[in-house]
Parts: sequence; structure tokens; C-alpha cells
Amino acid sequence: MKNKLWQGRFDTPLSADADAFNQSLTFDQKLFDVDLDASIAHATMLGACGILTEEEAKRICEGLKEIRRDAAAGMPVSGAEDIHSFIEGELVEKIGDTGKKLHTARSRNDQVATDMRLYVRSSCDAAIRALKDLIGALLLRARESVHYLMPGFTHLRKAQPINCAQYFNAYSEMFLRDIDRFSACRARLNVMPLGSAALAGTSYPIDREITRELLGFAAVSQNALDAVSDRDFVAEYLFCASLAMAHLSRLCEDTILYTSEEFGYWNIPDEYSTGSSIMPQKKNPDLPELVRGKTGRVYGALVSLLTVIKGLPLAYNKDLQEDKEVFFDTETTLLQCLGIYAALMKKITLNVNVMYDAAGEGFSTATDVADYLAKRGVPFRDAHAVTGKLVRDCIAAGKKLEGLTLEEFKAASPVFEEDILETVKVRSSAEARNSVGGSSVKAARQGISSIKKRLAAY
Ligand code: ARG
Repeated sequence: MKNKLWQGRFDTPLSADADAFNQSLTFDQKLFDVDLDASIAHATMLGACGILTEEEAKRICEGLKEIRRDAAAGMPVSGAEDIHSFIEGELVEKIGDTGKKLHTARSRNDQVATDMRLYVRSSCDAAIRALKDLIGALLLRARESVHYLMPGFTHLRKAQPINCAQYFNAYSEMFLRDIDRFSACRARLNVMPLGSAALAGTSYPIDREITRELLGFAAVSQNALDAVSDRDFVAEYLFCASLAMAHLSRLCEDTILYTSEEFGYWNIPDEYSTGSSIMPQKKNPDLPELVRGKTGRVYGALVSLLTVIKGLPLAYNKDLQEDKEVFFDTETTLLQCLGIYAALMKKITLNVNVMYDAAGEGFSTATDVADYLAKRGVPFRDAHAVTGKLVRDCIAAGKKLEGLTLEEFKAASPVFEEDILETVKVRSSAEARNSVGGSSVKAARQGISSIKKRLAAY
């Protein structure tokens, strides 16, 4: 380990075990690029404000850019307490004593808060891109299936026939909300803490507008105490990720069910399936299961950070260093899961006939029968009872509603006419639900174009 930034105050160096425990470089080196960006902006501002000479600021900026090139060429990032100490140490090694002036009017507290905001900002962009790609895959499936029918479930019991495109659109709606959430999170976090220094602001004549502009922040923070200790934006990212994982996990559950032998609605192609080490016949849905499983660690990250934040006295406390591992792990997990699922959804194939047959089972058009009566003046509660009795009779006789004759319908209620035989069909049932968001072909098509339109806004 190199000397600490704070060694001056101490007689003896930190013991090796304490040093290893205290360090964050093994994980905060992910902040390498944003830390350089923020330092370059800071040094530029110090030069422009006359706090450093233009010459000093220029040398510092050049040194920092060189460090970026060194890292790209494979320079190991190690041997320091954290990424901030590492970069400062490298700078001093490169340009000498001028490098020691970089930390003027700055603390690691506002530095790390700024770095994290810059990093999470691009993580929000990456999440939005990955979600867009996943929605693209779902739209592919939806466009293919506007004329396909499948059972819609409530309580995992067949409820009503639905349009297959309407099914895929439902997930697109969820992921669109996730995009919107990440985008709102991004907008809220786009405030610059730099210039807050350790906690109380700084006595140097800094110009925070210069750094704000250089780093592309929308505003500068208005309270230094809050700015150095605020990690709301990390918690928000973790919440956005948690909810996106919840949606993904539901899609996983459907995938696992729908590709099972019992359902048989979809096939996962071989390149995205796994086998069993003992049962030669098996084709397992390991990927959706893993994604569903990883949802747990993302929730864990959110709860972990919320617990870290809770009860912290103002302002900065080292506890806040604990925001990083959970955040980085979540970012990696989320992007991996979204990526693998987009690939999977592009590749699954649909067993159209199996889904169609299943859509007609379980008396799934019973609501249409009840609605038929209600639309002809029978109070809905009575219509419900008449239809319930018809279903019971069908069960006893081993028949389907679609298989009943007009006489049998008329025996249940004189209100039934010839057209009930058409109404009770699976396709008529789906087509009848032409309300916005419904299961008709037209409504499903509208759903697709509405999703595409809203997606284009991001
Ligand atoms: N590694 C630290 C963190 O992540 C950097 C800030 C250190 N600040 C301090 N006052 N010790 O929070």
C-alpha cells in the first residue's frame, strides 16, 4: 500500500488487517473513468477561477488523461485505499508536486458522491437500452401472434380466451413502466454534489456552474450536508431494478410453465435449454429459473442499502461505502438477466394449435354466454346463474359449451337465439372484447402501436 492521503496526522501506518478491511479499491475501481472525468472538470474549474494557475490546471488535466491511457494499456489498479487515492497517487507520480494541488477545495466526500451519480446516471441509460431491447423482442412475438389465441388465466385457472399478442404486450407494458422509472431516477439524480467539500462547503472562490456544465449535470446541489450523505439515488436505482426483476421473474415463471409438457404452449430452442446429468430425456428451463432466482439478490441489495442509510447521523459516514458492492452487483445482474431474456424471447417458438385448443377448454367462453343474456335484458346476476347451471350440466354430460345445441341453450333460457352458437366460440369470444386493451385483433394491434409509440419517446 502507498501512503495514505491522510497519513500526516498519524504516527504509525494502518495495520495490514485494518487496511484490508477499510479499503474499497477492489470494487470502487469501477469508478475509475467517472473519477477521472470529475477530477478533470474540477481541475479545469480551479484553473478558470484562479485558485490554481492555468498552467497547473493544464498539467493536472493532461496527467489525468495520461492515467486513463495507461489504464487502457493495462496498468494494474491496485495498492491504494480507494480509487480516489489511487488516481491522486498516480498523478503525483506522473507530474510531481502540482498533482498534490488537485484536491484543493474538494473532499473525497463530495468526490465519491459525484462519482456515484455519474456512474449511476449511465447505469440508468444502460438499463433503459437493455429494457428497450427486451421490449423489441416481445414486440417481435406480439406482431407474429395477433391472430393466435391462448387461454388467459386468473388464479392459474383458465379464465377467458385471449389474444396471444395481448399477452406479450402485457409484459411490454410492465417493462415500459420500468423504462419510465429508470428515466425518472436518472432525471432526479442529475444534480451535482461537487463543491460541497467535506460537509460544509468551501472557503475557496469556486464556480460550481463550470463543473456542472462540464459534467452535464442539470443542477448543483443546494445543501452541502445533504449532498455528501445522500444515496437516495442508489436506493432508487436498486428499487427500479427490483421491480424490473419482479417483472422479469413473472415472465420466467410463465416461461417455465408454458414450456412444460403439461402446458406445451412454447418451445425454448436447444441453444437456450439445458439437460439433466441423470435423466437423458430432460430439457430444463435453467435460464428462466436462474433469472427468477437472481431476483432475490437484487431485492437483497435494495434492503441492504435501505438498512445502511437508516439511522446515519448527518453528514458523511463510512457506512456509505457499502452502497457500492450491492449497486455494482445489481447492475451486472440486471443487465445480464435483461440481455439473456431478450435473446430468449427472440428465439422461443409458439405451439399455435396447442394454445388454440387450450383456449377453448375450461368453459372459457362462459362469460360470453352470461353477457349474451345480460345484453338481452336478463339481469347479469341471473344470467350468471343460468350460465353456471349450463356449465354444471356440461360437466355432468362431458360436453363443452361450444358443443351444446340451440335446443339445449333454449332449455336453459328462452332468451337464447341461433346466434348464441356463434357467440360461444373461442374466436368470437376474443374478438368480442374490442375495448381498448382488449383481446380482439384490432385491440391487440392498437396495443402494439401504442407500445411502439411510447417506446420511441426514450
Ligand atoms: N471509499 C469511500 C466511500 O466509498 C470514499 C470516501 C471516503 N471519505 C472519507 N471521509 N473517508 O465512501
